[in-house]
Amino acid sequence: MKIHPFEKMFIAITAVLLGLGLIAIGASVFAAGIHLPAPHGRVDPRQLASTAPFDNPGLRQTGPNHYDAVIIAQVWQYTPFPPTQPIEIPVGSTVTFTLSSTDVVHGFMIQNTAVNAMVIPGEITQVSHTFDRPGEYLIICHEYCGIGHDQMYAKVVVA
Ligand code: CUA
Repeated sequence: MKIHPFEKMFIAITAVLLGLGLIAIGASVFAAGIHLPAPHGRVDPRQLASTAPFDNPGLRQTGPNHYDAVIIAQVWQYTPFPPTQPIEIPVGSTVTFTLSSTDVVHGFMIQNTAVNAMVIPGEITQVSHTFDRPGEYLIICHEYCGIGHDQMYAKVVVA
């Protein structure tokens, strides 16, 4: 079989790009620790309010610099952290956020961090972040969830 020189060139370029792509993915997964958020578990959305840990949502300190935040996403707020009640933590704290939704799909994005997850009814979403810099971090719902979607936000205050 005869292969046209241009075709050989394109095959070579494709192979190089594919290789670079795989290296980039490998580097981001193993060196930078970036991965797709996978469901942490499953929960019946109708029983969410009576299923641990969602029966007792809120912020808890679990170690010297570690906190757990259990949050229920529902139209149109992050319970129990409405915009007027920020999540307050000291600088350097690592917070593990555990979320689920009682109704529709919501988003959970913390500005100026790598936290960007979906909150899906029936699934438990878990993400962690270490807040090394003081300031106010806006948490926004970035999945359209109805008429009040733009009002669905919360805050992390790091001081
Ligand atoms: Cu919740 Cu948009």
